[in-house]
Amino acid sequence: MATASAGAVAAVASGAIPAYGNLSKKAGKLAIHGGQRVRTKSWPSWPIWDKSAEEAILSVVRSGIWCRLGGTKVSEFEEKYAELMGVKRCLATASGTTALLVAMHVLGIDAGDEVIVSPYTFIATYNVVFLSKVLPVFADTDPETFQINPDKIEERINERTKAILPVHILGLPANMDRINAIAKKHNLLVIEDACQAWMAEWRGKKCGTLSDLGCFSFQNSKHLPAGEGGAIVGNDDEIMDRCYSFHNCGRPYGSVKRTSSYPTRGSNRRMQEFQAVILMSQMKRLEKDTQTRWENAQYLTSKIKDIPGIIPHKLYPQVTRAAYHLYPFRYKKEHFNNAPRQKFLAALSAEGVPCSGGYGPQYKDGLVEEALNSKGYNRLFSKRRLKRYRQELHYPDNDELCEEAVWLSQRLLLTTKSDMDDIADAILKIYENRDKLA
Ligand SMILES: Cc1ncc(COP(=O)(O)O)c(C=O)c1O
Repeated sequence: MATASAGAVAAVASGAIPAYGNLSKKAGKLAIHGGQRVRTKSWPSWPIWDKSAEEAILSVVRSGIWCRLGGTKVSEFEEKYAELMGVKRCLATASGTTALLVAMHVLGIDAGDEVIVSPYTFIATYNVVFLSKVLPVFADTDPETFQINPDKIEERINERTKAILPVHILGLPANMDRINAIAKKHNLLVIEDACQAWMAEWRGKKCGTLSDLGCFSFQNSKHLPAGEGGAIVGNDDEIMDRCYSFHNCGRPYGSVKRTSSYPTRGSNRRMQEFQAVILMSQMKRLEKDTQTRWENAQYLTSKIKDIPGIIPHKLYPQVTRAAYHLYPFRYKKEHFNNAPRQKFLAALSAEGVPCSGGYGPQYKDGLVEEALNSKGYNRLFSKRRLKRYRQELHYPDNDELCEEAVWLSQRLLLTTKSDMDDIADAILKIYENRDKLA
């Protein structure tokens, strides 16, 4: 594995450019200014279809059994996914959002409760909390790891707090040792939003299996895609029976006994048979893809870590594998002639490396005020509580991260080390040309 030599690191410290691979041949005018792009080849597209699954899909279509009720495919997928995750049970759902909604309901997180959650996540995490008429109380983000900062959780807990909802965002594991210890101390539930973290591992155990319940998404962009879809995993049979019952309109299931046709409230959150067939086909590539992303991500980190102003994400030492739905690093403009991140992103894209700036500070978005002003929230929470909530709605570390983050898509990692060299070379070329960037 090629890493920056001690000499190269010293050169960085002294402000000179380290010798990275064959960069000098590729360097020169930035592509955004009309120069040659570093990367001319295309990147893999996603998802990748396996033609051998077509017969199985056709046979479901022809059977007319498209719903899981009466079918076998969804149950078959559930068994396989539970085994893959190393967990007793899995319930497939219509989406990751519905998986989280079912988990929240079944664990008794109810209207008027509060849940501690990371502000740095896909908006669905906020939405499931609001849809449950629960107050999402944000704990600031740790910009180094991109995850919820465990040091910021306890100060947010009060007598209404019912659960912590950590998100393994970007497919990088959150600090589950700390989160579980805090939950235990305060008698709180933990639901993992593992919607971006299939096959990521903490101390050798899969993310999503480290708490009361874990939730996954199988939406089109995900590493295990089926267009739409989701799953809940857990080890407690009684809780999982209740999940099944709730996702199937409240019908009896297992330990949810037949006291009537509908012994409990419920909803329809079922997965379709076609989705399960696609998932079983996509599952065949998941382990290999995960390992490829993991190895390439580590190599990429080794290549870019010494470039001034480029701060790769940190992984906790307990992480035995990250899933890398996105590969993130931070961009410090002061090392790039104060060129705003937008300029860097445009320059990197022009060099043939697609990238984005990721999430904004969404807790400042309209949805929060809309919820706080709603009739329901004003019935459930006192004026005093809502006033204090608004006053505390400041997350400076998260805001800083939202301004500095750079994301690379998982697709880019499904390649080889020499493709990672292209990414590193493109970043270094921009650094070399920083005087022309601003
Ligand atoms: C972190 C996170 N949580 C929840 C979800 C919701 O999943 P879905 O889109 O399947 O409803 C997603 C999906 O993008 C996600 O990334």
